[in-house]
Amino acid sequence: MKIIGTGSALPKKVVTNDMLTEFFDTSDEWIRTRTGIETRRILTDESLLDLAISASQRALDAAGLKAEELDYIICSNVNNNYVYPSMSCMVQGAIGATCPCFDIRIACAGFVYAMDIAESFLQTGRAHKILVLAAEEPTRFCHWKQRETSVLFGDGAGAAVVTEGGEYLGARMTTISNTEVLFQRNRLEPTPFEVEGVYVDHPMVMQGREVFRMAVSSCSKEISYLLEETGHKVSDVKYFLLHQANMRIIKGIEQYLGGTDEQYPTTVQKYGNTSSASIAILLDEQVRANAIDRGDLIVMSGFGSGFTTGSLLMKY
Ligand code: ACO
Repeated sequence: MKIIGTGSALPKKVVTNDMLTEFFDTSDEWIRTRTGIETRRILTDESLLDLAISASQRALDAAGLKAEELDYIICSNVNNNYVYPSMSCMVQGAIGATCPCFDIRIACAGFVYAMDIAESFLQTGRAHKILVLAAEEPTRFCHWKQRETSVLFGDGAGAAVVTEGGEYLGARMTTISNTEVLFQRNRLEPTPFEVEGVYVDHPMVMQGREVFRMAVSSCSKEISYLLEETGHKVSDVKYFLLHQANMRIIKGIEQYLGGTDEQYPTTVQKYGNTSSASIAILLDEQVRANAIDRGDLIVMSGFGSGFTTGSLLMKY
């Protein structure tokens, strides 16, 4: 697999930590020291679909492709205001593509999983040009009376167009079923047969410390195994593009693996945690800043609700 174009899009509304003190008993100091987040972008009069379309179009333009040339669209998305059709179906029509498409719902590790699925499609020859998209509005799964979660998130979309001809050196995907540490329950329509109390909707629940611990430990180990399996060292890797959940998690992984600060670029301070879109946005920013050269080795690694982790190593 080779990445031939990237794109991203963010809401225009910049929300600072100080602005959040209007709604919660919190402070810029608490948020910065616990998370590294200074601002985030939150949807106002745009929709998540608008962002998904812009990110996709930018990735196609960068790849020099027309939407009709795509063979597949794979989109990572947890929530938007449609349960169905999928986000990828809506994007497909809006950009003028005609290919099949589907969504995956793996929370924050979704973009890495989607890239790995794209690699499999390319390997089997099922598809030659694939749009891999991640579009998320996690600010809509927080309960906006809960300071513990609401301060962490931002909205955004990122995309990559991939094709054959690159070097995808390896990947590791893991799932450790744990529905307690991080979950949100959907509102379902009641039926006359429902037994009271069985289906309860619930905004996001997060055991922050446990998620923190699992994130640092699983991501660090998975990346180590991946490098070992493929015969690479940390110093061989130009960038570790990690899920942007919390600066302290990123620093924890860096401490375990080693390497320099430059190898761990971040956007979490500007955009907060944009769930599965964070790695795609970070990738696009690095590409557009001309910080990645063809042939550079990159690791992408995400973790999230599940508990899932996904890591891949490829040449840009
Ligand atoms: N402002 C001020 N105080 C707060 C806030 C806030 N926004 N949130 C919590 N506090 C308080 C708590 O109530 C607690 O008060 P107490 O000591 O009086 O009980 C105190 O701050 C300390 O809270 P801790 O939980 O100990 O803080 P911690 O250092 O663990 O940081 C955090 C919390 C930032 C949530 C951290 O645990 C974390 O980042 N965890 C990982 C979160 C994450 O990455 N989630 C990704 C999931 S995304 C996905 O997959 C969908």
